[in-house]
Amino acid sequence: MTTTSAPPYEESGEESGADPSAFERSLGPFLLNYKFGLDEILTKINILREELVFRGTGNPIEHVSSRLKSVESLLAKAERIGCPLDLDAIGEQITDIAGVRIVCSFIADAYQVLDMLTTQPDVTVRTIKDYVAHPKPNGYRSLHAIVEIPVFLSDTARTVPIELQIRTAAMDFWASVEHKIYYKYAKDVPADLVDELSAAARVAHELDTRMAELHRIVHG
Ligand code: GTP
Ligand code: MG
Repeated sequence: MTTTSAPPYEESGEESGADPSAFERSLGPFLLNYKFGLDEILTKINILREELVFRGTGNPIEHVSSRLKSVESLLAKAERIGCPLDLDAIGEQITDIAGVRIVCSFIADAYQVLDMLTTQPDVTVRTIKDYVAHPKPNGYRSLHAIVEIPVFLSDTARTVPIELQIRTAAMDFWASVEHKIYYKYAKDVPADLVDELSAAARVAHELDTRMAELHRIVHG
């Protein structure tokens, strides 16, 4: 029996110097719901992966990683966006507490995986942002979705939002390098590096397009 391999991915190290308080302690059980939400969605992804391999139609998913925001990072984000320190407000306004990143071989696979996940009847789509068709000005490409899924506890059910990022290996490579540069320069990246990153994004996209063409020639 295989399990979904989902090593944690890095996130922008937002830090807060706040002391632990009763409110922060209440975040433990709150965050546990999101951890269960991640468990649910990772199971869904694993089922898709295994079924597609079994059907012999090829595996569109290269690798999967997930992360739960730390208490420090959550509090820092709440402060940054002016969200009151209240569990209801945080649950409503911060939709990337649980995040899953799915890396696919081809652009078409990324759309297919997004579609297979978002059309499941117990998955509710809150937002979809297509940064593949409409890249960010810096060249960033990915499919983003906020989906809500139910989590059934001993005496109640909760619905938790999960942030999905679905991208090709080329987009993922670019995003990880861009992320490191962005943090190395404390978000103030020199203009020549910005140009270089934007050129690299075009090359990454060209690679995706050429690989899709090769794939089409070989597999039709
Ligand atoms: P937050 O930055 O999380 O508050 O997201 P947002 O509400 O502005 O949403 P958006 O969809 O723009 O970004 C969500 C996540 O996608 C980010 O936290 C990053 O992980 C990733 N992301 C978005 N834009 C970029 C980018 O330009 N470069 C890189 N490397 N990652 C990005
Ligand atoms: Mg985020």
